[in-house]
Amino acid sequence: MRHSRPHDPRAPRVSASRPPPPFSTPPRSHVMLWCLIVLFLAVKEGGAAGRVTQGPTFTIEPPRHLHFTNSSGAVVDCMAEGVPAPALFWTTGDGRRVEQVEGLREVAANGSLVFPPFPAHRYDAHVHASTYTCRASSPAGTLLATPTLVRAVVVGHYEVQVYDQVVMTGNTAVLRCAVPSYVQEYVTVTSWVHDRSFQHLSLAAWRYVTVVVVVVVVIVVVIRKW
Ligand SMILES: *[C@@H]1O[C@H](CO)[C@@H](O)[C@H](O)[C@H]1NC(C)=O
Ligand SMILES: *[C@@H]1O[C@H](CO)[C@@H](O)[C@H](O)[C@H]1NC(C)=O
Repeated sequence: MRHSRPHDPRAPRVSASRPPPPFSTPPRSHVMLWCLIVLFLAVKEGGAAGRVTQGPTFTIEPPRHLHFTNSSGAVVDCMAEGVPAPALFWTTGDGRRVEQVEGLREVAANGSLVFPPFPAHRYDAHVHASTYTCRASSPAGTLLATPTLVRAVVVGHYEVQVYDQVVMTGNTAVLRCAVPSYVQEYVTVTSWVHDRSFQHLSLAAWRYVTVVVVVVVVIVVVIRKW
C-alpha cells in the first residue's frame, strides 16, 4: 500500500481509501483529445507553409503615351495584384517618387495618377511633359510598368493661313496650309473648301495640295483626336 504515512484525522478519509489512477494509463477520452489537438496544429502549420507568396502582376497597366488638354485633365490607371497585395507608387523619369503638386498632379488612393484640368498659366513642363513609371512593390518583389510619356497641351485659339500663289496658265500651283508651329504637332488638315464645297483629303496628302486653278480657299482644320 502506497499510502503508508500515518493517518491524519484532518484529511478526508476518501483520499486514503482511493488511490489516484497512475499516469501511464490516461482515460481514452484524453488520448482522443490530444490526438485532435496535434492534428489541428499540424493542419494549421501545413496551411501556413502552403500559403505561397506571389510577386506582383499588373491587372491594369498604364498606356505608353498619354495626351490630354488643360481643359480635360487625365487619369492614368495602374493596378496590380499579388500575395501579399502590392503597394503602388509612381516615379518620374529621374527615378524620384512622384509627389503631389497642388492642383496639377495627385496620386489617388487606388494608385491612379491624376492630372486635374488646369488654367493655361499653370502649365509646368516638369509635370505636364514628363515620363512616369508605375511601380508595384511587396515583400514578394517589385514590378515596373512600361513608362508612360505624358503630354498636356493648353487649348488656345490658333489660325491657319494659305498664301496666294501666282502661276502661269498651264502650270501647277501648290497651295500650302500654314499651321502655326506651336500647334502643328496636334493639328491635321482634313479638308479644303473649294467654292463652298468640302474637298476631303487622304491622310497621306495632309500638308500639300496641288490645284490647277488658283481659287480662294478656306481651310478647315480640326484638332486631331488623340
Ligand atoms: C482610381 O481613382 C481615380 C480618382 O478617384 C478614378 O478617377 C479612377 O477611375 C480610379 N481607377 C480605377 C481603376 O478604379
Ligand atoms: C485651358 O486653357 C485655355 C486657354 O488658355 C483656357 O481658356 C481654359 O479656361 C483652360 N481650361 C481650364 C480648365 O482652366
